[in-house]
Amino acid sequence: MLVRVDFNVPLKGGAIRDDNRIVQALPTIKTLIKQGAKVILCSHLGKVKHKEAPEVVAEQKKKNDLAPVAKRLGELLGQNVKFASLPRGEEVNQLVSSLNDGEVLLLQNTRYEPGEEKNKEDLAMDWAKLADAYVMDAFGSAHRAHASTYGVPALLKKENKPVAIGYLVKKEVDNLMRCVEVKPTDRPYIAILGGLKVSDKIKVIESLLKKCDKILIGGAMAFTFQKALGHQTGNSPVEDEQLEYARNCLKNANGKIVLPVDAVVTNAFEGWTDKKTVELEVPAGYQGMDIGPKTAELFASEIAKAKMIFWNGPMGVFEQKDFQAGTKAVCEAIAKLGNNCFSVCGGGDSAAAVKEFGYKDKFAHVSTGGGASLEMIENDGHLPGVDIIK
Ligand code: 3PG
Repeated sequence: MLVRVDFNVPLKGGAIRDDNRIVQALPTIKTLIKQGAKVILCSHLGKVKHKEAPEVVAEQKKKNDLAPVAKRLGELLGQNVKFASLPRGEEVNQLVSSLNDGEVLLLQNTRYEPGEEKNKEDLAMDWAKLADAYVMDAFGSAHRAHASTYGVPALLKKENKPVAIGYLVKKEVDNLMRCVEVKPTDRPYIAILGGLKVSDKIKVIESLLKKCDKILIGGAMAFTFQKALGHQTGNSPVEDEQLEYARNCLKNANGKIVLPVDAVVTNAFEGWTDKKTVELEVPAGYQGMDIGPKTAELFASEIAKAKMIFWNGPMGVFEQKDFQAGTKAVCEAIAKLGNNCFSVCGGGDSAAAVKEFGYKDKFAHVSTGGGASLEMIENDGHLPGVDIIK
């Protein structure tokens, strides 16, 4: 049984900083072990840029070695997890043929292979040959049509071999579909968007404008909208090439978009010596680092009305403790709603913030996939890695 998981976990010096993605994959893995399957797991980790010089590629491979993940998975399962030092080749074939029922093998990072991201058929074929069935449980990678997420199930399906989604993908899809196919009882439906760039969120804004009752926009991306409205944005990160889009978007949004009314600004991103709160105009030499207290209050008053929330992207530079207040205020406002609201945090940085600030249990669902949950909203519930299974 070949299982594609998303073990793309944050590592620092070889140590796993957050094992949530491994923990979330356990229900599927444990079920397969219990049923006596020979479990072959595969995942990517980080990026390997094969066009770089060989020594750079070697360095990236070393940095993104899955060996520590195999060790952690073994601890969580309470059984030995075998590890193949490469994702493909003789060692893999031998380890697979020596697997006993109920044993687990993790293959090395799928991105060690240049054909993975290109969905090369010879690579997909080699992986497909290892197994007589396939489970897709890598929600975080389901928006990637790569060899391990798309090519393998496509080949196995052609051979009439069973392919399925795992428990994690099922949970993610069930929860996120509720934010895609909106029931009248889930209104008002409020989206909260933040993060750096408008350009990364254009498709999701378009989709949410059709589905949501309000979209609250914070984070650095709000400054592109503010500049489009003619406000001074100082040194805040603005995408000038998106000003036209922002202007049109606001014009067509029928008042659905709610923008910040104040901001916490500093005279530098790092090593700043002056910090203050300003209303709409950011002075020259200053840049926005967080939404201000009036915006936090405004957003909280909108959130208080919500029956359903989809949130993606922090409100400020929450990695620096002086600029966490806006993101915390959103967490707090959502927490207050309790079971009266179906709240979804769409992975990535906002999920990291929710966890760091201790609000994870206050959400109905915190996704393990940042890019995947956004694409699910953008594409009306479709993801290549899930669609190929269906
Ligand atoms: C993620 O962390 O969002 C997923 O694991 C996908 O990773 P990728 O953006 O490198 O494909």
